Amino acid sequence: MVFKHILVTGACGQVGSELISELSSRYGSERIIASDIKKCTLPEGVRFVSMNVLDRTAMDAVIRENGIDTVFHLAAILSADGEKNPTLAFSVNMQGTFNVLESSRINSVERVMIPSTIGVFGPETPKENVPVLTIIKPRTMYGITKYGAELLGNYYFEKYSLDVRGLRYPGLISYKTPPTAGTTDYAVDVFYHAVTGKPYTCFLRKDTKLPMMYMPDAIGAFLKLSEAPRSRLRYSMDYNISAFTFDPEGLFRVIMKYIPDLRVIYEPDFRQKIADSWPASLDSIDAEKDWEFKPEYDLDHTVRDMISHLRERLQKTGHL
Ligand SMILES: NC(=O)c1ccc[n+]([C@@H]2O[C@H](COP(=O)([O-])OP(=O)(O)OC[C@H]3O[C@@H](n4cnc5c(N)ncnc54)[C@H](O)[C@@H]3O)[C@@H](O)[C@H]2O)c1
Repeated sequence: MVFKHILVTGACGQVGSELISELSSRYGSERIIASDIKKCTLPEGVRFVSMNVLDRTAMDAVIRENGIDTVFHLAAILSADGEKNPTLAFSVNMQGTFNVLESSRINSVERVMIPSTIGVFGPETPKENVPVLTIIKPRTMYGITKYGAELLGNYYFEKYSLDVRGLRYPGLISYKTPPTAGTTDYAVDVFYHAVTGKPYTCFLRKDTKLPMMYMPDAIGAFLKLSEAPRSRLRYSMDYNISAFTFDPEGLFRVIMKYIPDLRVIYEPDFRQKIADSWPASLDSIDAEKDWEFKPEYDLDHTVRDMISHLRERLQKTGHL
């Protein structure tokens, strides 16, 4: 399938801003509408529409008037912010997703892509090599709503044959957009401190193992899933993917190979409890078999790439 008119919600976030660049170079910027409640810089030719995913009327109009056939729905309230404001997380993540699915169904959208998260898992989930089908009892509002979104996506696929696809992202590492409100954000924050020579206070315990992935692989995987033949997919919303697993101490050790004077202190906060309820590693075998998921970056490669890109950017902006 060739995507003709693509709508991206939450386009100014950590994932959205990188997805938009890749979508516009693959399909042409004139095919893409970026929407968000905040503004951001976009690749030339990409149109921006200010849209709250809770505004169904506005969403129907944007989808209908622009002949949208593909939606990438990224607008969400992430784990740490979700615990601070569970009411907002519930409405944006549940009602917002429902609006996207319902508007897509009514307006004959062909494909809806929605990322899920390791946040759907809970303390009863096995810790290592978690398969797609397992015990799922999330304890955070983020996890509850993202699991609700998975179930909604599956429902729309089975009941209405709306082609809804999704995958459970692990923690994502990227240098382009500063992290917002996730539990794995330490793995991005620390690079800014390492590169600028500032000590870093880590909000997770040093032995907290979590599955992670570098952003180019995360974007590549999402697009690969979006382009896969539907007949090859055994699941709708819930493919597990992950590139590697580390704990803060392990990550800092690799960074110190390249920046030996990095100093870290540990002061776990409320995010420790969230991280403790998530698994340490995921089994990506179904994604590998069904749509050839294959990450390119291992941890060492990720760290080298993060350091060199961040240095370059901070030098350009006069911060280094
Ligand atoms: N970043 C990660 O580590 C990670 C990991 C797993 C899953 N995910 C998933 O990926 C998706 C994107 O996450 P992200 O990291 O880019 O998050 P982010 O917080 O960086 O971006 C979310 C965007 O949604 C926008 N938004 C919030 N409320 C909105 C509303 N009511 N209407 C319209 N836009 C609204 C925000 O302004 C923001 O630009 C989410 O579904 C998230 O659950 C992210």
